[in-house]
Amino acid sequence: MNKQLRNFLLILFSGILISSCGTREKKKSPKEGAVSGYYQEKYRPQFHFSPEANWMNDPNGLVYFEGEYHLFYQYYPDSTIWGPMHWGHAVSTDLIHWKHLPIALYPDSLGYIFSGSAVVDATNTSGFGSTKNPPMVAIFTYHNPELEKSGSNVFQNQGIAFSLDKGRTWTKYSANPVLKNPGIRDFRDPKMFWNEKTKKWNIIMAVYDRVHIYSSPNIKDWTFESEFGSSIGAHGGVWECPDLFPLKVEGTDITKWVMLVSINPGGPNSGSATQYFTGEFDGHKFIPDNTKVNWIDWGRDDYAGVTWSNIPGTDGRRIFIGWMSNWKYAAVVPTTVWRSATTIPRELSLIDENGHCLLTSKPVKEFANLMSRSDTLTIKSLRFTGEKEVLSDRIPLMQSQMLFDFKLSDTRDDSLGIILENSLKERLIIGYSTIQKLFYIDRRAAGNSGFSNKFAGISTAPYLAGTYLKMNLLVDASSVELFVDDGRLVMTSLVFPTEKFTKLKMFSKGSDILLKTAEFHGIEKIWF
Ligand code: FRU
Repeated sequence: MNKQLRNFLLILFSGILISSCGTREKKKSPKEGAVSGYYQEKYRPQFHFSPEANWMNDPNGLVYFEGEYHLFYQYYPDSTIWGPMHWGHAVSTDLIHWKHLPIALYPDSLGYIFSGSAVVDATNTSGFGSTKNPPMVAIFTYHNPELEKSGSNVFQNQGIAFSLDKGRTWTKYSANPVLKNPGIRDFRDPKMFWNEKTKKWNIIMAVYDRVHIYSSPNIKDWTFESEFGSSIGAHGGVWECPDLFPLKVEGTDITKWVMLVSINPGGPNSGSATQYFTGEFDGHKFIPDNTKVNWIDWGRDDYAGVTWSNIPGTDGRRIFIGWMSNWKYAAVVPTTVWRSATTIPRELSLIDENGHCLLTSKPVKEFANLMSRSDTLTIKSLRFTGEKEVLSDRIPLMQSQMLFDFKLSDTRDDSLGIILENSLKERLIIGYSTIQKLFYIDRRAAGNSGFSNKFAGISTAPYLAGTYLKMNLLVDASSVELFVDDGRLVMTSLVFPTEKFTKLKMFSKGSDILLKTAEFHGIEKIWF
């Protein structure tokens, strides 16, 4: 059905919402969140991925194949809260516009389909396809709820499935599971990659408070290689959704391996977050560079993020996407019809910062294509103290990108930043404290937070700014993503203002600050 016709029908027949995932959901009453058009509900992200309806959590099976970026995701098609997990599916040719496809993997007698990854088996090591038509192979965790209830420890096992038609249909392997639980309750989230050195597949997976690495010649038979992490990194919760990939240190010929490990709870600002390690990996064992705890994103709302596999060498990017929520309140955020979105896809880079490897994240370059030609505004050389309103009405604030270039004052006192405000005086404050040397996002008085006493609060991130400070802020209907100094620091935060933010203020507590330039861009919506 074409989109316009579907939108029209959605409005006309207010009884039932039909999603292209083939699921039917009883439409909520208008009071609960009226559908006034396709992707037009209150708080519905306009330029981020979210499922048409119902619950989503982790991104899964990220793989590029024949011109398409695949995004699978933890999906429960029958409710807006977590339930028996499926793999939802969408594809994109530019990482920005997404096409929903039918559910790829359904639960079966072995269990729910938990998180995992997908690859293109180019030389057909698995035998599921041919070298002419290489199979896409997914590896995921089977979570068996009955076994879990029975008190058994072995309810999480790894299974595989393959597709010979560009991911449109999937066949589960008849001899699943391929990697049986050795007796550990938390044994999940395999991320698979081809290792050029050993000419074998590796998986890295989360095992309670650490990761395990396995290898395989054919994706079906797995050998344990090593364990990492029991006494290193953050340990405030269980480890989940790891990733491991090589990345060149910018401007050098040195390649490091980067390990991402999500942790829940135990993030730097409470609840879920993703830490990373840099080091060496020979296909068997990961040796970290140091014992430092690093976070890929200091905000409260970027979890379980992993990277795309099989990006062509000619492109060469390492592209990451996260789940834009936090297990502390994910199930109760005030959205209707759907729940949760992903972060903007981000390009990861490694830079050498005083002898340490720092992982930076920036919105993928394709994002720039969404900048509206008409809604653009530039401010130059603005000196201010106190609060200064710089924008209202000219740019659709809730669908915008803002780029700020500050020169900090020499006296360096107190803090500066940005306030998004609405007519109810609800305000989201994004600031940098030059005294405490930290960034913060303060959503204590930014609107709707009564759904969970874990939601309101200030998130902070240590940061040593130089004389110049650059901030890149993406604001969508219910989120902000802050990238500082070309992605050296990232903070992602959900926000649910009762009414849309319409005012933008700059503030400087203390001496005057020079805003060298600010650019404001309206961002086009991606859903039609
Ligand atoms: C992370 C996670 C994974 C698990 C999945 C279940 O958010 O808990 O460890 O596979 O979600 O939906």
